[in-house]
Amino acid sequence: MAKKKIAVLTGGGDAPGLNAVIYTLTKTCILKYDYDLIGFKFGYRGLYTNDFMPLTLENTTGILHKGGSILYSSNKDNLFDYKVVENGVAVRKDVSHVAISNLKKDGVDVLAVLGGDGTLTSARDFSRLGLNVIGIPKTIDNDLLATDQTFGFDTAVNIVTEALGRLHTTAESHHRVIVVEVMGRNAGWIALYGGIAGSADIILIPEIPYTLDNIIQKIRERDARGKMFTIIVVSEGAKEEGGSVIVNKIVADSPDPVRLGGIANKLTYQLEERIGEEHEIRPVVLGHTQRGGETSPYDRILSARYGSYAAKLIHEGQYGQMVCLRGGKISAVSLEEVGGGQKLIQPETEELVQVARDLGISFGDRQVHRTK
Ligand code: F6P
Repeated sequence: MAKKKIAVLTGGGDAPGLNAVIYTLTKTCILKYDYDLIGFKFGYRGLYTNDFMPLTLENTTGILHKGGSILYSSNKDNLFDYKVVENGVAVRKDVSHVAISNLKKDGVDVLAVLGGDGTLTSARDFSRLGLNVIGIPKTIDNDLLATDQTFGFDTAVNIVTEALGRLHTTAESHHRVIVVEVMGRNAGWIALYGGIAGSADIILIPEIPYTLDNIIQKIRERDARGKMFTIIVVSEGAKEEGGSVIVNKIVADSPDPVRLGGIANKLTYQLEERIGEEHEIRPVVLGHTQRGGETSPYDRILSARYGSYAAKLIHEGQYGQMVCLRGGKISAVSLEEVGGGQKLIQPETEELVQVARDLGISFGDRQVHRTK
């Protein structure tokens, strides 16, 4: 009987842990189940152009800790709405049938897709077309439905935490206000976790609109206590009460074309206008450093757990599923439950919002009332 052949692809923005999943999946599939593996390059684009490489024990060795993806990634190539040039004119069309015929031609039995909501929505759609698909949840934003945690998030939080530690010493030396912009799209998870772990004084997240007055009141309240510097962590998707998000650019080919960014500069400018006489203010945009470098130990382990469980699902023929983490346990959920939504912070019920408030951290949404 022919060996089972597994194809792997990594789609969307890269996240630390992609290589750790590829590593674990390759090792488990070869050593435990004796399968063959190939990896398509640049996500779904490689599936369309049939650009792949074998995945072997030799070419995946030593990648567990490395960020990025040895298969590269793309967050622009949705094969159900793909840009092709016909008679010199660019048109968008559904080219999913090309991917399916490539997989057939390459003798692939199962497609393992590592991605966030856009990539996994396509995985669901390929599953609906009859492909054997397994999803593995990735994104630094941690905004995917149906799993408590995506891999990549912990590493990003570590990077934000380390940056805030460094910014504290320089902010304190100059009595400055530093506004630190972090990623996360429309979800404030990175800001909330990184902000608490890094002892931010103010955390601004998309789920809780802020006012400038409340931010300034918190800064002055700290001044009054002799804390002459303030660290503000602002999520790229945060907005002022009655305001809207700041869009940095539109990436037309992307399943989610809006790229946020620019709020740290805007807020710095606004604060300079109001309290520039009291403090110097500086913006810091952490940007793609949050996705780069080495994968945190927690993410390496989470990725290894996901990879190992994905191989088990493949072995058992349980397709149309995404591996997930729920209540500390790895399990699987139908891909039907994954796409088309975002897991956002629920401010009224989220424990960490309460913890932050207990710590005296302001979300810029209420006046500050200190009792001591
Ligand atoms: O989804 C991951 C993410 O890093 C977001 O936090 C951010 O808004 C976006 O991707 C940035 O996308 P790009 O890499 O296309 O600039």
